[in-house]
Amino acid sequence: MKQALHVAIIMDGNGRWAEKRGEKRVKGHEQGAKVVREITEYCAAHKEIERLTLYAFSTENWKRPRLEVEFLMKLLEKYLKNELEVYIKNNIRFEPIGDTRAFSASLQKLIKEVKQKTAHCDGLVQSLALNYGSHDEILRAVNKLRDEKKDITNEMLSNALDCKHQVDVMIRTGGDHRISNFLLWQISYAELFFTDTLWPDFSTKELKNIMEEFTKRERRFGGLN
Ligand code: FPP
Repeated sequence: MKQALHVAIIMDGNGRWAEKRGEKRVKGHEQGAKVVREITEYCAAHKEIERLTLYAFSTENWKRPRLEVEFLMKLLEKYLKNELEVYIKNNIRFEPIGDTRAFSASLQKLIKEVKQKTAHCDGLVQSLALNYGSHDEILRAVNKLRDEKKDITNEMLSNALDCKHQVDVMIRTGGDHRISNFLLWQISYAELFFTDTLWPDFSTKELKNIMEEFTKRERRFGGLN
């Protein structure tokens, strides 16, 4: 398998997973956070995957009921506090993307701390997309570059984005076939995989199957094989 792959996942279906069990939606998020850990550890152990970028909270998710947003913030805080040890043990570097300035001061501090404390890790890079939206990311990048005297090149724009790396494999769980403002610049030649599995039921076995399927796809990048 080609080395240094970038896998990105739209983790959808938490609410439906919980509702199917007669539970509150937030139970699905809680279970979803456990799956985040499992999938991250799997990728860390499989060296052909260099980056794993996970859509954890979008710029649009603020529109959800206040209690659900508050729950997601607390869950993220709990996850990051617990995860620091796991990141270091598995040599995982945490590189969040998105505009985290919208979060509480304590959550921003925690995000920064986990980033700094894992900066030396040189295994898998796990990026959580936090208050992330592709349009917002591109606009922030363009605004950073707007005083440039020369024409903006592909490389300049790529480097000004939060996520500077093209995606190889994009997966969406939960049955919908859309991209929902996730990594629009970075998926120009990504292979797309959609599964009906709800995120809390997603497993390392299913990821392994997707990665096997990926190796069978012929990627031409606009050329002729
Ligand atoms: C979509 O499910 C999922 C999200 C809003 C974000 C993903 C969040 C997690 C996986 C849990 C927290 C993650 C971390 C890293 C702590 P949905 O609620 O839209 O599901 P539905 O489509 O069934 O309603």
